[in-house]
Amino acid sequence: MNKKGFIFDLDGVIVDTAKYHFLAWKKLANQLGFKFTEEQNEMFKGVSRKRCLEILLEIGNIEATKTQFDSWMLEKNLDYLDYIAKMNETEILPDVTRILKFLKNKKSPIALGSASKNAQPILEKVKLLSYFDVIIDGNHVTKAKPDPEVFLLAAKQLGENPQDCIVFEDAVAGIQAANTANMISIGIGEASVLNEADFVFKDFTEISSEFLEKISQVKKKELKKV
Ligand code: BG6
Ligand code: MG
Repeated sequence: MNKKGFIFDLDGVIVDTAKYHFLAWKKLANQLGFKFTEEQNEMFKGVSRKRCLEILLEIGNIEATKTQFDSWMLEKNLDYLDYIAKMNETEILPDVTRILKFLKNKKSPIALGSASKNAQPILEKVKLLSYFDVIIDGNHVTKAKPDPEVFLLAAKQLGENPQDCIVFEDAVAGIQAANTANMISIGIGEASVLNEADFVFKDFTEISSEFLEKISQVKKKELKKV
């Protein structure tokens, strides 16, 4: 297998934490007097905490002072931290560990590229931290996905050219970021939602070692040859 860098998003790719983000935002919305649905939560995937609160307040038609804004962000995060405190290996999404093990055995460089500021403690809780050579998360970037900053920084720290990197993402904004970075984008989720991705799989159970070997041989612009 050629040397390619593999970059994983966290929430919705490695672990199903979208449900915890949802519950914490829902609690805040209800407290502020309005409803927040799972459908609306789709807009929050891959989006920074600050931007999520801005969208939530737009949904509720609420104007916040700077002090209120900061305290609501803090409150949501404390609720979210309560949920993730109880996390363990059972919450790793199907076949993620198989793929990480396969790549590790092949000595492929592996990075995390996540918008979350809670990425490292989550990887520790589910005992996957040791698979990652590089961690780039919400604490390291200033520009949120779909800006490619998070993935470009991950590639740089892995010592890889962006065109030699492959990204796994569940959010539309994340697929767009990978594409802008000139990386091969692999969507994890619904093909109808992630239609801008180079490839889409429902989950990692659908990704074979042969497929990983194959895409490791090509650059994004050569993809039609796969
Ligand atoms: C992304 C999630 O990975 O991280 C978003 O998809 C979330 O829903 C964002 O808002 C920021 O997460 P955190 O943990 O820093 O609030
Ligand atoms: Mg995600």
